[in-house]
Amino acid sequence: MPRPYPCFGTRLWAVVGAVAVATVWSSPAQADLPRALHDLTHVTPSAPLRATLGTVAGSSTVELRARSRRCAKATPVTLLISVDARRIARVKLHSANWRNVSVPQKLAAGGHTLLVGVAGRPACSRATVDELRLGGRADRPADAPAPPGTPLGPKRRIPIGAAVNWDISTRLDRAEDQAFLGHFQGLTPENAMKMTYVEPRRNEFDWSETDPLVTYAMDQHRTVRGHTLIWHKQLPGWLTQRRWTREEMTAVMKEWISGIAGRYKGRITDWDVLNELFDEHGAWRTNSPWYDALGPDLADMALRTASEVDPGARLFINDFDIELPGPKQDAVYNLARDLKARGVPLDGIGIQAHWSGESLPPEPTLLATMNRFASLGLRVELTELDITTDRFADALQRQADAYAMAGRVCQSVASCDRITVWGISDKDSWRGGVNRPLLFDDKFNAKPAYGALIGALAAG
Ligand code: G3I
Repeated sequence: MPRPYPCFGTRLWAVVGAVAVATVWSSPAQADLPRALHDLTHVTPSAPLRATLGTVAGSSTVELRARSRRCAKATPVTLLISVDARRIARVKLHSANWRNVSVPQKLAAGGHTLLVGVAGRPACSRATVDELRLGGRADRPADAPAPPGTPLGPKRRIPIGAAVNWDISTRLDRAEDQAFLGHFQGLTPENAMKMTYVEPRRNEFDWSETDPLVTYAMDQHRTVRGHTLIWHKQLPGWLTQRRWTREEMTAVMKEWISGIAGRYKGRITDWDVLNELFDEHGAWRTNSPWYDALGPDLADMALRTASEVDPGARLFINDFDIELPGPKQDAVYNLARDLKARGVPLDGIGIQAHWSGESLPPEPTLLATMNRFASLGLRVELTELDITTDRFADALQRQADAYAMAGRVCQSVASCDRITVWGISDKDSWRGGVNRPLLFDDKFNAKPAYGALIGALAAG
């Protein structure tokens, strides 16, 4: 069944082959972006709004949107929008009400100059522009992953997602919001969808954090990765503080998965259904109430239930320390192979990718690992990428090189169609700000790692 694939809208973005990546590559840093792109800006005949935009890979249909209004009681103001000195829209604003202007455009790869001006009586020809965007209607990615070995064209579009830890109903930091909207196309709730928060008492669900988050993502045309259904951590006390029979636990699992995956059916594109099933020796983790009651059958049961509840969502096994060959990688591979062979619904493997300088996988190894999982006909994503730094002078550059490596490998594996980083700003990382693991510093300035990742993804 086709899933809706949203029209992406960010303040500025460049298209990198199914999805847009927010960047203005012709501007060196986020700090250089004109304030006008973020805030309300008045445009007059003598002071048009000018911005440089970049599209990276090939041409793409994009939409330009500007919300604007004339000053009160004046004659109509005409809003003029040009790209590369070519007029693409002329819009009469008759009232002070806000209106959206959407202009489909084809832009070739390269830099473009956007100009928003007004025409009208000089005395009162002022338009106020807000939420200026260069967006686009990206092609929906194919439902099936590309078979391994599929030659990759230059126009692959790889979106970047970010985990966020917001309670949107009470806090939405403007700088963080801008960084998110400006640079990320996908959202993973870092904690909000975990069972301890959503089902604090059996069969009593608390949607107070998740509903606003999903609504926000939908309003902003972002995809949502659901995280996570079956995990041995962040479970409610009522689940962990007693033992369950197989029958009881089956019912508990059905209630939980039906509750959350049912509520967001059609709005969550991917679910981390099975999270961290194995220990470092490749043995099933036994410190889990799910495993305690259900044993290895929990994998079948969870995947089948999730698939029944939301047949449109892609279902993932997600784990860490599976980049390098070894018993843990083998355990995930063997389980996935077995599930596929028996027709259990499974769509992908998430490699969490919490790395440091020491644990960084060599590029050929990561490539081989991703291709190994892809050979099962599965998608492969980096789902929680972060890379800590040390204090040596070249740490940020080495980190940038590591992010670039991740982007290059994803670009060269046909079934890798998204990278998600585990947070936006260093200051909010679960690994501690001092380790500076993410793409943006604690003031939301883009770090070298951001440009390196974008560059590697664009290079495909
Ligand atoms: O809920 C309490 C809140 O009531 C309290 O005010 C606050 C004060 O510190 O703590 C809150 O709980 C914290 C929770 O995050 C929500 O912020 C926990 O102490 C903290 O331990 C928890 O950490 C999360 C961790 O999972 C739990 O294991 C991290 O933020 C989150 O990044 C991390 O994410 C996991 C993925 O889900 C799975 N893969 C590994 C990854 C990193 O550990």
